[in-house]
Amino acid sequence: MLRKGGETVKENIPPHGGLLVNQRVYDEERKEWLKRAKELPAVRVSHRTLSDLECIGTGVFSPLTGFMKEEDYVSVRDHMRLADGTLWSLPVTLPVPEGSQIKEGEWITLCSDQGTRVAVMHVQSLYRIDRRQEAQKVYHTVEEEHPGVAFLYQTSSLQAGGPIYLLERKNAGVFSRYYFEPEETRKEFAERGWERVVGFQTRNPVHRAHEYIQKAALETVDGLFLHPLVGHTKADDIPAEIRLKSYEAILDHYYPKQRVFLGVFPASMRYAGPREALFHAIVRKNYGCTHFIVGRDHAGVGDYYGTYDAQKIFRSFSQEELGIIPLFFEHSFYCRRCATMASFKTCPHDQTDHIVLSGTKVRQMLKQGLMPPPEFSRPEVVQVLIRGLQGKE
Ligand code: ADX
Repeated sequence: MLRKGGETVKENIPPHGGLLVNQRVYDEERKEWLKRAKELPAVRVSHRTLSDLECIGTGVFSPLTGFMKEEDYVSVRDHMRLADGTLWSLPVTLPVPEGSQIKEGEWITLCSDQGTRVAVMHVQSLYRIDRRQEAQKVYHTVEEEHPGVAFLYQTSSLQAGGPIYLLERKNAGVFSRYYFEPEETRKEFAERGWERVVGFQTRNPVHRAHEYIQKAALETVDGLFLHPLVGHTKADDIPAEIRLKSYEAILDHYYPKQRVFLGVFPASMRYAGPREALFHAIVRKNYGCTHFIVGRDHAGVGDYYGTYDAQKIFRSFSQEELGIIPLFFEHSFYCRRCATMASFKTCPHDQTDHIVLSGTKVRQMLKQGLMPPPEFSRPEVVQVLIRGLQGKE
């Protein structure tokens, strides 16, 4: 129990696997590692790995303390569990270049494109993966048109696993105001007295259906944690800075300040649909969420996944091992006859009464400076998107 102003505040939900990981090094120890890192074999890593390092280092990916060793990788790929049985649905692995001279037992340093030594890693496992097999099992397709599969195919099949220590935090840049680590959000929720917190993942600008399911969820809990992903997304997704601005544009007008908290999620999108929905839920537990929203085609792309596949996958696990409670929402829209937001679950009217626009259609409209209707998107958001997409901000 934490104490605040004489009151007893309940502790947050336990992190996934029980302990909140911290793989950062501080002060003298960090200086020592920075010196030592100069002598270590260096591996230049991708934007995906940089996001993963940030997430592992700060406990977002608890209980992971590094990149997966072969037995964890195989177990996650085939059974959605780490080798010790803990539920985990996506591989978090480090591809190393073909022909590199790295050996098991060695320390290496992981560098950004600019040559910054971001982390050190103890290589405890070197192994090869079958990328097609991973694509089939994790993404449920081997097609290169799938952006997650395309990324997988262009990486090396040689992988290194082992614990990492994070030396350099990512420069959060324009996101720094909203950049909170799990330890910080947990503290924030406890101080606000929120015992039940619902997390919302998103990679798109906020629209009315998002707002509807967020608020419907908030009706039953104490607080709403808006958590847009700001790691790498595919080229035609709206850039994270613009998406964040879309939230800034409406929070003051349409959301109750004392019940909503906005932070950014530094992970990269994989577009793995159901498996990523599970992953998104369990890592939000690390931030202190007790509930997590899963709507239509969560983390999906194209027609690779069924509309509710990302909800069905949760049924394979007990509530006890999930720890976090998924809140499922049906496809939502504005209905002209109901004259309100609704879903196929709550609206009896014909689809011709529903205002539904595809992401592609909306992007086309915005690029031409056309306003999607207010029933689809708040005008304040549309202004931000038009300005952003026309390069005026
Ligand atoms: S995602 O890749 O992060 O899932 P997006 O930002 O579009 O994409 O979705 C964020 C969350 O809102 C997801 O849980 C998704 O299922 C849900 N969602 C998006 N649009 C709708 C909608 N029209 N009806 C119900 N849920 C939706």
